[in-house]
Amino acid sequence: MKEKKTIALGLMSGTSADGISISAVHIGKKNKAIEVLKYKTYSYAAKLRKKILSASKMNAFALSELNFELGYLWAKRVSQFCKSADLKYKDIAAIGSHGQTVCHSPFADIPHTLQIGEASFIAKETGRPVVCDFRPMDMASGGQGAPLIPFLDEFMFGGGKPRLFLNIGGIANFSLVGKGVKTFAFDTGPGNCLMDSLIQNATKGKIQFDKNGVLAQKGIIDYKKAEKMLKESFFMRKPPKSADRNDFSFQFVKKYFKNINGKSTPDIMATLNYLTAKSVEISIKRHVRLIPCEMIVSGGGVFNRELMKNLRDLLKPMKISSIAEYSMHPLSKEPACFALLAWSALNGRTNHPYLATGAKNKKILGKIIL
Ligand SMILES: Nc1ncnc2c1ncn2[C@@H]1O[C@H](COP(=O)(O)OP(=O)(O)O)[C@@H](O)[C@H]1O
Ligand SMILES: [Mg+2]
Repeated sequence: MKEKKTIALGLMSGTSADGISISAVHIGKKNKAIEVLKYKTYSYAAKLRKKILSASKMNAFALSELNFELGYLWAKRVSQFCKSADLKYKDIAAIGSHGQTVCHSPFADIPHTLQIGEASFIAKETGRPVVCDFRPMDMASGGQGAPLIPFLDEFMFGGGKPRLFLNIGGIANFSLVGKGVKTFAFDTGPGNCLMDSLIQNATKGKIQFDKNGVLAQKGIIDYKKAEKMLKESFFMRKPPKSADRNDFSFQFVKKYFKNINGKSTPDIMATLNYLTAKSVEISIKRHVRLIPCEMIVSGGGVFNRELMKNLRDLLKPMKISSIAEYSMHPLSKEPACFALLAWSALNGRTNHPYLATGAKNKKILGKIIL
């Protein structure tokens, strides 16, 4: 008999602050399959993106306002998304909203993390249970609160041969998942964030990212500078570890490159692109004991051809493929993960890769809004 599948919705607003990404998924409980039924990213207007990227420096009033502004906007986007997907609210079993990370400091004296975007608005709009605020419980249990994506990797690919899964969002993280393998994952450092901050600043906000990596491709890599940057404490730290986007902001770029102008931008971009790939390579080579022969990449970084080329060159002869080859849009994976985490929480199931985050015990992450 055909198994009855559950529909869940996931929302992700990543550290790139490019937009709100929504996935509607079918969850097949028995064969542990997740199928993305529909995916869409609704881009943020430039003004809102700027506001989000400055949120860590806001006063309480402005932050509280942004919390509600995002919640209200996301509820509107969920409504649009469901209409375009011909999806009725009553058919949705669970909605998971990751929120917008404003601050993530697992190594501070008092470790803390903050995701905003008031999820009550989505619950009010849909009348369906919404799960949000996943990371704090992992941290309360002694974990880093990140990365959480390996839970989806494990769910979908845990029964297959051991493989690496790399997600290149604002921050990059990878997981090692497969049969007979203890799931292992951590943040490798910058994903697109350094490159994005360079081009956004160099073009005064006119261009958001180095489309397809064409600018990096025109530049000359400063290998010595990249080696110097790789001595930063985050890269030297042993896992479990997770990164704060604020550690890899434009301040970081300015620390290493004094003359940032139209002429120097391609070379700096080429160096940052290489640094990003190199930090993935050293993370794998230093910390993965048995390196598998395939890595499946997701997140917006997949579209940066120069970054994928650098990864392929540095990790030869590893096969590096896009998750698109496994019938999943590269940007749909993160929101799909939060749909799964929400569905798991509502069913009272553990929903974090606790071995990877460093949490002391299995927990159910998330706050439920009914
Ligand atoms: N065509 C492209 N070429 C290069 N980079 C791209 C392209 N499309 C998206 N990106 C990068 O991907 C980022 C968004 O990726 P995403 O996975 O949504 O990250 P996050 O989870 O941080 O929001 C953009 O900010 C940009 O840097
Ligand atoms: Mg995004």
